[in-house]
Amino acid sequence: MSEKTIIAPSVLSADFSRLGGEVEAVCRAGADWIHLDVMDGHFVPNITFGPPVIKAIRNRTDKVFDCHLMIAPADPFLGAFADAGCDIITVHAEATTHLDRSLQAIRDLGKKAGVSLNPSTPESVIEYVLDRLDLILLMTVNPGFGGQAFIPSVVEKVRRVKSMIGNRPIHIEIDGGVTPETAPLVAAAGADVLVAGSAVFKGGSEEAYVRNIAAIRGASDGAMKKAA
Ligand code: DX5
Ligand code: ZN
Repeated sequence: MSEKTIIAPSVLSADFSRLGGEVEAVCRAGADWIHLDVMDGHFVPNITFGPPVIKAIRNRTDKVFDCHLMIAPADPFLGAFADAGCDIITVHAEATTHLDRSLQAIRDLGKKAGVSLNPSTPESVIEYVLDRLDLILLMTVNPGFGGQAFIPSVVEKVRRVKSMIGNRPIHIEIDGGVTPETAPLVAAAGADVLVAGSAVFKGGSEEAYVRNIAAIRGASDGAMKKAA
């Protein structure tokens, strides 16, 4: 949907002891959005953070807060994530019994609505909710941890989703194992938002973040142009 790749660093790989400063540094280094991975130890085998932490870092930047909920159930908590300052709220299709209702609830809160699919989930589950969506997040790892290897079979799913959405204004976001090597594969297939955790935060300094973001952006923008 966007002509240039949107880079959304996942703070999962940041230094949590100075999270506010890390958000500021990665924004100065070229991040477009901030990706927030919320895990509950139930839907995924890891626990991260929730609305109070998001609220605490909200005043560090005006960039879009892109909230990826890996929690089940999600519906009872949507209001709290909206109040905390999330701009986009994404639920997993596998984690909500009534996906259509969850997406309506997010939009009723005045937020952009996203759905995420695990690598093994077929894209057919979103066929009847396309008009309720602002973003489709395709997982290229099994959710739960940063630093895992990219699953290449999802590239074909990106192509299929791109053709399913037609000319609807829906972002296709990729999450998991994104690096300068894998970014062109998904950008060429139609993805316009790339989440990256370890590939952005490696090096641990603002100078490193500048280089890391530029490397991913350069690789994906080139592939996007070729595909267009
Ligand atoms: C995984 C998370 C991802 C993760 C990406 O469950 O949703 O956002 O942080 O990390 P990397 O880029 O290291 O694969
Ligand atoms: Zn994520």
